[in-house]
Amino acid sequence: MSELAIRVTVNGEPRRWTVAPGDLLLEVLRREGYWGVKKGCETGECGACAVLVDGRPVNSCLMFAAQAAGRKLTTVEGVAQRDRLDAVQAAFLDHGGVQCGYCTPAMILCTEALLARSPRPSEAEVREMLSGVFCRCTGYQKPVEAVLAAAAARASAGTAAPAGPSPARRAPAKRGARR
Ligand code: FES
Ligand code: FES
Repeated sequence: MSELAIRVTVNGEPRRWTVAPGDLLLEVLRREGYWGVKKGCETGECGACAVLVDGRPVNSCLMFAAQAAGRKLTTVEGVAQRDRLDAVQAAFLDHGGVQCGYCTPAMILCTEALLARSPRPSEAEVREMLSGVFCRCTGYQKPVEAVLAAAAARASAGTAAPAGPSPARRAPAKRGARR
């Protein structure tokens, strides 16, 4: 089948991709070097492949790349503010919410989406949100603590969750080791 030319915005930067109609968003993002998007079950169960599409978490293994045309995508590469981790990333590190790290990009992005709509979530809301991402390492307690700490840190700093990455962010290189 013929290929399609689509335009998307990834982490604040406009991109033009050529995709086949059956290409999954997960595959195309990783092909383009966004290796923070993790490949897990590929059946919509584990949540490791989550990215934000117009600010909402989506399992990228369940979305065709062509469906992303005209949308704003955020991957974990777009979360940090230049060389500085954002509050959510820092809290995951500080609270031991990262172990093997495979689920972490998805947890970070889902947290950003949660805090954007609910800046001071209850623990129940946090657990509900994190339940969409399988984690085999942490037992969830530390990620829950990290999300609550990030929310508190943002509240005390008077900063809302960032709406998206800074436009100056660069796309990652397409070569080198990947997981
Ligand atoms: S890889 Fe997409 S939900 Fe598991
Ligand atoms: S930290 Fe290893 S799967 Fe979550």
